[in-house]
Amino acid sequence: MRERWDSRTAFVLASIGSAIGLGNIWRFPYVCYECGGGAFLIPFLVALLTAGIPLMVLEYAVGHKFAKGAPLALGSLKKGFEILGWFALLVGFGIATYYAVVMGWAFNYLGYSFNLAWGDNTQGFFFDQFLKISESPLQIGSVQWMIALGLLLTWIAIVAAIWKGARTVGKVVYFTVIIPWIILLIFVVRGMTLPGALEGLKYYLTPNFNALMNYRVWLHAYSQVFFSLTIGFGVQITYASFLPKDADVVNNAFLVSLADAATAFVGGFAVFATLGYYSHQTGLPVSEVVQTGPQLAFVTYPTIIKLLPFGSVIFGVLFFLMILTLGIDSAFSLVEAGAASLIQKYKLKRLHVNIGFAIVAGVIGLIYTTRSGLYWLDVVDYFMNNFGLLVVGVLMCVAVGWFYNHEEIREYANSKSDFTIGKWWDFCIKYFTPVVVGILFITNVVDRVKSAYGGYARTAEFLGGWLVIIAFVIVAVFLYKKKRRT
Ligand code: PHE
Repeated sequence: MRERWDSRTAFVLASIGSAIGLGNIWRFPYVCYECGGGAFLIPFLVALLTAGIPLMVLEYAVGHKFAKGAPLALGSLKKGFEILGWFALLVGFGIATYYAVVMGWAFNYLGYSFNLAWGDNTQGFFFDQFLKISESPLQIGSVQWMIALGLLLTWIAIVAAIWKGARTVGKVVYFTVIIPWIILLIFVVRGMTLPGALEGLKYYLTPNFNALMNYRVWLHAYSQVFFSLTIGFGVQITYASFLPKDADVVNNAFLVSLADAATAFVGGFAVFATLGYYSHQTGLPVSEVVQTGPQLAFVTYPTIIKLLPFGSVIFGVLFFLMILTLGIDSAFSLVEAGAASLIQKYKLKRLHVNIGFAIVAGVIGLIYTTRSGLYWLDVVDYFMNNFGLLVVGVLMCVAVGWFYNHEEIREYANSKSDFTIGKWWDFCIKYFTPVVVGILFITNVVDRVKSAYGGYARTAEFLGGWLVIIAFVIVAVFLYKKKRRT
């Protein structure tokens, strides 16, 4: 039986739920901080307008028109593009393996909230007591059992949430979208009333035109937009395929993309205000107060929680529940999309696919629960986003812009919508986005040939980066070749 959403609201919330996630309040702040704060916002906005929204329209239109999951929908554009659909889902799978671990951290922090266990030195607590971080990725060290337990709980929660497919999802998302928004606003207000907050906000909001010359800032802006909107994962295509025939495409694409970007932008106020507070406390400039990277949110938010005038424990608990609810609908959107696509082609049982997915991703995820886990997380995240999602994005543009009649796709989208898009869309899909993203991608490959990512050992970069990408290509081709069951 084909899956369907109960209502338009269910679809919009599910799609927003997939988009809004840890990407907005965990990844966005640290990527932004790494790229120099205000230096990042302009490229981010440009990427949103030239790639984010146009590709969201593309994914919805293709999913809706062909009414199939990502692989078969892309395969309807031109046969071989089915491989791209599988590759997209696999990149999403790679992301889900570590994404669930970050949710596992949040489970632990939820527990810590009850006695504010992180104390005053939130940074030291995170690295030394919680992760017990080793010296380098190759010094793997033992699994940290509490983190592994968090990971287990995360996967159990994900599988439970999608037990019955789109019908359950449509209900769960009411909670997982609306509650987080309310809590986030409380944090923004508290963050902004901390001493020194203004300095942090200045760093966040002042554009830095020199940074616009640095290709890396643009690269991160594009990949963050893909990650955050869940574009290039095959998810939005598949979600749109569950829509009834008369549903709106363009409106929904704008709504979801703008809601997602706005959430990241607003969340940034809480994080950067706290960095300003740190700078006020330590006398260091905002750009140097915290070691940047995937741990940023786990340093800044606990600080805010501790400094709340009252009810720290309650807000701490609410906050980490919020992170979990934000993350869960992103994570399960991927399982849903993968499952729907596999079921469509091979007629497998939903329950088997969901559970199989959770087990495989959970076991792979154990690597990030070791003492070297943060390093691996960083390498895999970098490769999945900058080499995985961006490639999918470019190839989707090429598929529609060059191997299919892109005007037909635009007209299809417009015929379904109150509000229509013009030829600028064709221009973005056919020329602008593939060329710009393609150049960023090639420059980045050249950079990686010159030096390993993040100063890690080449072996670590190979194992966590190139090897994963190669493996995904092989599996994608295999899934394409394997005969469909009817
Ligand atoms: N868009 C999600 C976010 O911003 C990213 C994501 C999507 C992660 C799907 C996993 C699966 O958090």
